[in-house]
Amino acid sequence: TRPLKVALLGCGVVGSEVTRIMTTHADDLAARIGAPVELAGIAVRRPDKVREGVPAELVTTDATALVKRGDIDVVIEVIGGIEPARTLITTAFEHGASVVSANKALVAADGAALHAAAETNGADLYYEAAVAGAIPLVRPLRESLAGDKVNRVLGIVNGTTNFILDKMDSTGAGYSEALDEATALGYAEADPTADVEGFDAAAKAAILAGIAFHTRVTIDDVHREGLTEVTAADIASAKRMGCTVKLLAICERAADGASVTARVHPAMIPLTHPLASVREAYNAVFVEAEAAGQLMFYGPGAGGSPTASAVLGDLVAVCRNKLSGATGPGESAYTRLPVSPMGAVVTRY
Ligand code: NDP
Ligand code: HSE
Repeated sequence: TRPLKVALLGCGVVGSEVTRIMTTHADDLAARIGAPVELAGIAVRRPDKVREGVPAELVTTDATALVKRGDIDVVIEVIGGIEPARTLITTAFEHGASVVSANKALVAADGAALHAAAETNGADLYYEAAVAGAIPLVRPLRESLAGDKVNRVLGIVNGTTNFILDKMDSTGAGYSEALDEATALGYAEADPTADVEGFDAAAKAAILAGIAFHTRVTIDDVHREGLTEVTAADIASAKRMGCTVKLLAICERAADGASVTARVHPAMIPLTHPLASVREAYNAVFVEAEAAGQLMFYGPGAGGSPTASAVLGDLVAVCRNKLSGATGPGESAYTRLPVSPMGAVVTRY
């Protein structure tokens, strides 16, 4: 069988781990997929940066030329942000490649158009890594629970803010000190404002609500409050009341089933609740479905290696589809329910 060619866009915290696993687990991946996968090029911004374990001959600054080569089977996009990621992904579809992305900001802003572009070109778009790091959540919602009716998705979906709140609560660390540590560990976004102002969690809430309720939700539909207003005094007074503070994402189907809502805000959680024991950059998400009941998904929610695990899982799925001629569920799998604006008043969980 001919090798499947993979172009990697971005080789930072996540991309470098993707490269490492693709290199060291090449035989296992080939066995899982049924064909070898070959890294055909790695696009970065700074070609002279020292990158341990990254084959220098594959590094290029011309991401556009890489996705236009015409012989690429799968593009892995781990650059982040809206542009040039959006144009590169669309160009990849037009040149016959399927795409695996970790880019929640882009999927939450433009998921419908990207899915439509994939479908038009008979390609796949997978993004398990975009929500909750290593935790399988996107594909379980999209596939395993596709025959059930999900009514609520609720939990901690941002590792950086959970890390900050945990450090402030458990060690008395200051906000800036905890944020610096989260950044050094590779958890924070390139601009950590996305984490602390709740944009990252809101993007994830939009993606989860869209998949769980089979509708389209964008980040603009999500009511958002970040962490920046939470003080050490708030955390101390929550503690006195037997609670801790967590940044939650809450996506709900209305009781009449006719609309959905999604919101992100800090909430007081009783110490007896399972979400209270989610430490450091871990995430935990409850899914409530009619037939299944309540499910809890828990695990490392950020960082290079956990995120690369999700990327590689998608790579295997997309490569298998390539070989079989199948594609994953696309835009036509979605119906459309109105998204109710939350306004300023939110119900605290
Ligand atoms: P980094 O900032 O560490 O890496 C970004 C990479 O993209 C770098 O290699 C950079 O090149 C490259 N890059 C930036 N602009 C361009 C460009 N115009 N052309 C080519 N390459 C470019 O980000 P992360 O690895 O942390 O995140 C990547 C994506 O994964 C983002 O979408 C993020 O939201 C998502 N994600 C991250 C997680 C994490 O824990 N870090 C978890 C889940 C998802 P150079 O190295 O030369 O600067
Ligand atoms: N910045 C994100 C977080 C990365 O802290 O959760 C994982 O999506």
